[in-house]
Amino acid sequence: MTATLANLDRFNALAADWDDSPLRADIAHGVATAIAAQIPLRADMRALEYGCGTGLVSVLLAGRLGHIVAADVAPAMLGVLERKRRAAGLDQIETRRLDLTCEPLPAERFDLIFTSMTLHHIDDVTQMLGLFRDLLQPGGWVALADLDREDGSFHGPDVPGIMHQGFDRAKLVATLTGLDLQAVTATTAYTVEKCDPAGTPRRYPIFLITARRNPRDGG
Ligand SMILES: C[S@@+](CC[C@H](N)C(=O)[O-])C[C@H]1O[C@@H](n2cnc3c(N)ncnc32)[C@H](O)[C@@H]1O
Repeated sequence: MTATLANLDRFNALAADWDDSPLRADIAHGVATAIAAQIPLRADMRALEYGCGTGLVSVLLAGRLGHIVAADVAPAMLGVLERKRRAAGLDQIETRRLDLTCEPLPAERFDLIFTSMTLHHIDDVTQMLGLFRDLLQPGGWVALADLDREDGSFHGPDVPGIMHQGFDRAKLVATLTGLDLQAVTATTAYTVEKCDPAGTPRRYPIFLITARRNPRDGG
């Protein structure tokens, strides 16, 4: 089974109960707070959240941005977000099914692209970051949140669709710099404290890495 199909099945099945987890809400709050601290958000910004799930981060940032395309491969996750969006009158969020690993780039360009806990499901992260760069307006920002490198105990052995056991921050920073992105920063957005599958208490930091496309880059 491909990574995309594994993720599609798993996240469609998890969607209805996704928002019941206080841990997921805490991670989203940490990531949204870190994004707002690192990037000068504006009410005229057009943003893309890639791998939005049920939109936990997008909903938190919606009041500070002009428009968010909230994109995900799993229709059931998008369905949960669509219901929340309508109930809360969040007209600035637009849900969209999208898989950039195998579909053409959307025609529009964005002032901000953010992604939280999704990159570890993407096989070729360097390619994905290149697509993010291409989707940015000159001067646009990218914000990446995911696990620091870990030993696989965060998800445990039986979870399908995990392509990376976290990431080395320095390598991701080097990849972004190699893509000609600027002003790269790396901070800790949140630290998950939970027991590993053996029952041992563990700490799993989640980074936020931000970078900016050169404002003089013609696209
Ligand atoms: C761990 S969840 C995180 C969801 C959300 N960002 C959050 O923090 O609650 C990962 C999300 O990435 C989505 N995903 C996995 N592979 C994807 C792909 N190739 N393209 C788009 N979304 C993908 C999954 O459907 C899932 O909603």
